[in-house]
Amino acid sequence: MYAVGLMSGTSLDGIDAVLCEVHGHSTNTKVKVIAFETFSLDEEIKDEIKKVVRNDSPVTDLITSLNFKLGYEFSKAVKNIIQKAGLKSEDIAFVASHGQTLYHLPKDKGNLVRSTLQMGEPAIIAYENDVAVISNFRVMDVAAGGEGAPLVPFSEIILYGEEGKNIALQNIGGIGNVTLLPGNQDSSLVFAFDTGPGNMMIDEAMKVLYGKNYDEGGKTALSGTVNEEMLKFLLSHPYLEMKLPKSTGREDFGEVYTNEILNKFNELKHEDIIATLTMFTAQTINESYRRFIMDKYALSKVIIGGGGAHNMALLTNLRELLPEVQVLTQEDLGMSSDAKEAVAFVVLGNETYHRSFSNVPGATGAKEQVILGSITLAPRRFDQKGENKWL
Ligand SMILES: Nc1ncnc2c1ncn2[C@@H]1O[C@H](COP(=O)(O)OP(=O)(O)O)[C@@H](O)[C@H]1O
Ligand SMILES: [Mg+2]
Repeated sequence: MYAVGLMSGTSLDGIDAVLCEVHGHSTNTKVKVIAFETFSLDEEIKDEIKKVVRNDSPVTDLITSLNFKLGYEFSKAVKNIIQKAGLKSEDIAFVASHGQTLYHLPKDKGNLVRSTLQMGEPAIIAYENDVAVISNFRVMDVAAGGEGAPLVPFSEIILYGEEGKNIALQNIGGIGNVTLLPGNQDSSLVFAFDTGPGNMMIDEAMKVLYGKNYDEGGKTALSGTVNEEMLKFLLSHPYLEMKLPKSTGREDFGEVYTNEILNKFNELKHEDIIATLTMFTAQTINESYRRFIMDKYALSKVIIGGGGAHNMALLTNLRELLPEVQVLTQEDLGMSSDAKEAVAFVVLGNETYHRSFSNVPGATGAKEQVILGSITLAPRRFDQKGENKWL
C-alpha cells in the first residue's frame, strides 16, 4: 500500500513530505520511497511559530489559528507529493503526520506537567485530501510515562539494524539526536537521546549576522576559527551534564539562548562565531557519545542524517573528534538525509495501522510499549458496501 509521511522539524526549514510504498509491518516492514520533497514554510507562519515559542505575549488566539493554518500547509504538501508520485488520494492508505512542535516539556517543571504539543490540524488534512490521517504520535508515549521523544528509534531498528555492529544513528536537524542500535540486535537495549543543538544555533546566528537561513555547506564555519573561550562557555550548558533519558528543544537552544550568546561574544569575528557554534554542535555529539554510549559499546559506525549532513564543517569536526569511528552520511548508504524523518513517520503510522506498538521505552523512558497516534478517518471515503475503506 501507499502512505505519505509528513515532518516539520524544529529548524522550521520546511515541510518534508515523502510518499512511500509499504509492505508488512514490525520487523517485516519493507518501505520504498516513491517521491520526496521539502515544501517551504510561509514566512508569516514561521514568525507566528517563533512568537508562540517565545511566549512573551498572549498567544492563545495565535495557537488556535496556527493549528489550522498549519493544517492547510500540510494539506498542500500532501496534495503535491501525491501528484508528484502520479497517484490519487484514493490510492493512499494513510497520511502519517508528525505536526509542528510548539512546545515540548519532557519533565515536570514547577507548576507545569510533562507534556508536548504538536500542531497541524489532522481534520483539515483529512478533509482537504479525503484521506485518513494518523497524527499526534508523541502523546501516548507521554501518557505511558515517557518523554514522547525520540520516536524515530523504532524505524531505525527496522531499517538500519546490523548483526554484530554497534551503530549510532545521528540526526542533525534543529536539535541533534542519536539512537544506539546494539550489535546483538536486542531491541530492549536500544536507547536514544537528544545530544543537544543540531543546526538551530548556527541557523539563528547566520540569520542575525548574515541575514541567511543557514550556513550553506558549512562554508562560513570553514572560513573561521574556533574561539576556545566561547566554546568552553557553551560546553558548560547544563543540558550536557543531564543524565538519560533526556530530550531538548527550541526552549533550550533557540532564539533566546542564541541571542544571549551572540551578545556576550559580540566582539568576535562573525565567521569565528559560526565556526565555534558548529564546533559546539560537534562537541555535544562527541561528548555525549563518550559519556553515554562508548562507556558500554565499541562503536563501529555513525550514520548522519538530517540537514546537518550537508554541513562539511560539521562532518569534518565530527571525523576529527571521533577518529576511532567510521562517520558516514545517509547518502553514503544510498539513502536520503532529508527524507529520513518523514520515512520514519510512515513506519510509525504503519504500526498504528496494524494496531501495533511503536515506541521504544529505552529511548523515551516510557513504562511500557504502546500503540501511538490518533486516527482521523477519511471523511468521505466509503466503498460500495458503505464502509469506510481505511478500516
Ligand atoms: N546544504 C546545506 N548546508 C548546510 N546546512 C544545511 C543544508 N541543508 C540543510 N541544512 C541544515 O539543516 C537544517 C534542516 O535540517 P532538518 O533535518 O530538516 O531539521 P528539522 O528536522 O529540525 O527540520 C537547516 O535549517 C540547515 O541548518
Ligand atoms: Mg526540516
